[in-house]
Amino acid sequence: MTRLFKTLGIVLLSTLAEAITYGSNVTSFGCERACSTLRSAFGDAYLHYPENDNFTIWDAKQQEVIPACRVEPFNASEVARIINILEKNWCRFAVKGGGHSRSADDSNSVGGVTIDLDRLSTVEVIANATRARVGGGANSVQVYTALEPYNRSFVGGRVGTVGVGGHALGGGSSPFANRHGWALDNIHEYEVVLANGTIVTASETSDTDLYWALRGGGNNFGIVTTFTINIFPQGPIYQAQFSYAPNYTNEVLDEAYELWANPDVYSDVDMSLDLYYTYNRTSDQFSFSGTQRYLQPIMNASIFSGLSSVPHVSRRVTVDSVANLASSPPLGVTRNLFGTLTMSPSQLVHSKALDIFREEVRAINTVAGLTPNFICYPIHANTIAAMSRRGGNALGIKNTGEPLIICFVSTSWTEAQGDSAVWDMTRNTVNRVKSLAREYNVSSDFTYMNYAWTGQADEVFAGYGESNAERLREIQKAVDPRGIFTLRGLWRGFMKLQ
Ligand SMILES: Cc1cc2nc3c(=O)[nH]c(=O)nc-3n(C[C@H](O)[C@H](O)[C@H](O)COP(=O)(O)OP(=O)(O)OC[C@H]3O[C@@H](n4cnc5c(N)ncnc54)[C@H](O)[C@@H]3O)c2cc1C
Ligand SMILES: *[C@@H]1O[C@H](CO)[C@@H](O)[C@H](O)[C@H]1NC(C)=O
Ligand SMILES: *[C@@H]1O[C@H](CO)[C@@H](O)[C@H](O)[C@H]1NC(C)=O
Ligand SMILES: *[C@@H]1O[C@H](CO)[C@@H](O)[C@H](O)[C@H]1NC(C)=O
Ligand SMILES: *[C@@H]1O[C@H](CO)[C@@H](O)[C@H](O)[C@H]1NC(C)=O
Ligand SMILES: *[C@@H]1O[C@H](CO)[C@@H](O)[C@H](O)[C@H]1NC(C)=O
Ligand SMILES: *[C@@H]1O[C@H](CO)[C@@H](O)[C@H](O)[C@H]1NC(C)=O
Ligand SMILES: *[C@@H]1O[C@H](CO)[C@@H](O)[C@H](O)[C@H]1NC(C)=O
Ligand SMILES: *[C@@H]1O[C@H](CO)[C@@H](O)[C@H](O)[C@H]1NC(C)=O
Ligand SMILES: *[C@@H]1O[C@H](CO)[C@@H](O)[C@H](O)[C@H]1NC(C)=O
Ligand SMILES: *[C@@H]1O[C@H](CO)[C@@H](O)[C@H](O)[C@H]1NC(C)=O
Repeated sequence: MTRLFKTLGIVLLSTLAEAITYGSNVTSFGCERACSTLRSAFGDAYLHYPENDNFTIWDAKQQEVIPACRVEPFNASEVARIINILEKNWCRFAVKGGGHSRSADDSNSVGGVTIDLDRLSTVEVIANATRARVGGGANSVQVYTALEPYNRSFVGGRVGTVGVGGHALGGGSSPFANRHGWALDNIHEYEVVLANGTIVTASETSDTDLYWALRGGGNNFGIVTTFTINIFPQGPIYQAQFSYAPNYTNEVLDEAYELWANPDVYSDVDMSLDLYYTYNRTSDQFSFSGTQRYLQPIMNASIFSGLSSVPHVSRRVTVDSVANLASSPPLGVTRNLFGTLTMSPSQLVHSKALDIFREEVRAINTVAGLTPNFICYPIHANTIAAMSRRGGNALGIKNTGEPLIICFVSTSWTEAQGDSAVWDMTRNTVNRVKSLAREYNVSSDFTYMNYAWTGQADEVFAGYGESNAERLREIQKAVDPRGIFTLRGLWRGFMKLQ
């Protein structure tokens, strides 16, 4: 038997390898060979096979994906060697930062190699504590925690496990965005592994086209192994979570728009409010809840007094460090879908959007474990102004001095049978609210990459404006002439430019 194996060698192995199939997660011979090459290059401590991997990822759909293997590099030169091995074997891959995206292959590779950046998570405070060098696989709470002893913070996610990688490459809204701008406007340098394995540093003064492209260009240009971020003095903040009875919807909206759309109020850059409209399947009712934040250690910050005087059914207020507040629910439990649109502030359109959402959700309310939310918050005027720093970003949002409102349908559910119903509800709600916004002259072309569904990729880049989208494609051709990181190459998941 042993002799037979030796004689037939690679041919037999190849046949066996091609037979390794889990559902649609077919592992190619190229990837089988890539995994064994990676194993001999790096050793067992770097390689995990699905049979005995205790890997977890946020979305249950991504959790069900079966890669050929998962590899965990420690630094940029290892990432570069991995890329070279995958190209030689023409093996498809996905790259995982914080792993918070929501489609198979976004950050866990369907039958290919998952490059897991979780070991690239160091945080080094530099430049007299005005900047930090952060590993490309760090998550928000790792950075919050590392900066806390310095009484500093950074523009990270609201939830601790959200990755710095995906968050900052797609945009990066944050509790700190009103004061400091989005994450992508707070990055001084990117250390990037390009498609040919070259490691470059993109900044305002070197590889400046690539620097611009990485500010909103997502996973189309390279694997970022280090972000050099802006950090700032920050102590504990005020955070309050209120939930309201269904019959106070109009009162809550009145107060929210006072905070979002009145320049005298929103000019206080310590203030932010996220508003959730949620369906409770047990009571068959929809109601608002909101998260108020104020970037000072002031209990019951008075800017929210109007909102706080609306009768509420529950209330949780605290002053605490951001690291403690960025709670992180368990990973890999629920299936999730997001879909998004942006508009100018309009309380009337918001209110009509809730009618649409209710109708669409009621049509699918038998889906097991269904928890749909219609979530909105502003891109503050101050955040938009910050987008033109250091040569500007790729998002194409015009600075008119006015805020925009981002809304997204965010749904979790539990069984695969519910997938298509949730898709329909999400697509219908988003498209109907978009037409409504056009009808009322409050539509915006911006579609936030990080809340979009995979099929919204074309809308995302079209929304950046034709000249920005074209410039991104040209820059991509220059840094990746073979198209390794495009839809015809090896890294195809998430939001692709071409
Ligand atoms: C619970 C939850 C809370 C959220 N909160 C916020 C929020 O407060 N503000 C906000 O703006 N968004 C928020 N989001 C959206 C979030 O920004 C996106 O889902 C984002 O893509 C997550 O990035 P990640 O690194 O965690 O995910 P991943 O799935 O790992 O990455 C997303 C994509 O980016 C790529 N990528 C990741 N890291 C790198 C890297 N270092 N180099 C190159 N490519 C990389 C991946 O390959 C993948 O294609 C939230 C999402 C969830 C699920
Ligand atoms: C394989 O990949 C697909 C995505 O294409 C996923 O939906 C499926 O659940 C995965 N797992 C199995 C066991 O088939
Ligand atoms: C599971 O994963 C954790 C975190 O990545 C690791 O510390 C632990 O050793 C792993 N356990 C096994 C049995 O592989
Ligand atoms: C990358 O990490 C490996 C493992 O820790 C180490 O051996 C190697 O020297 C590192 N390379 C660089 C350039 O830091
Ligand atoms: C470092 O920052 C502190 C205040 O944060 C300042 O007093 C000091 O002068 C700075 N030092 C240098 C070398 O810039
Ligand atoms: C951080 O703030 C605390 C509380 O104000 C203070 O005691 C501590 O000295 C500060 N630490 C640094 C490094 O400035
Ligand atoms: C809302 O309902 C509660 C009872 O659930 C009632 O006490 C309250 O008066 C109602 N408020 C309005 C504005 O209808
Ligand atoms: C949903 O409604 C039921 C019945 O009114 C209530 O008991 C439950 O607490 C509600 N769930 C949430 C998450 O508010
Ligand atoms: C905050 O508001 C709540 C409810 O109105 C009140 O009970 C509490 O005493 C207030 N706390 C402070 C510090 O003002
Ligand atoms: C939208 O703009 C068009 C053209 O400027 C105008 O005719 C129409 O009345 C406006 N609609 C609303 C609802 O304001
Ligand atoms: C790798 O690609 C970059 C961008 O196209 C190019 O500048 C560089 O010369 C290439 N390096 C090698 C070794 O081919």
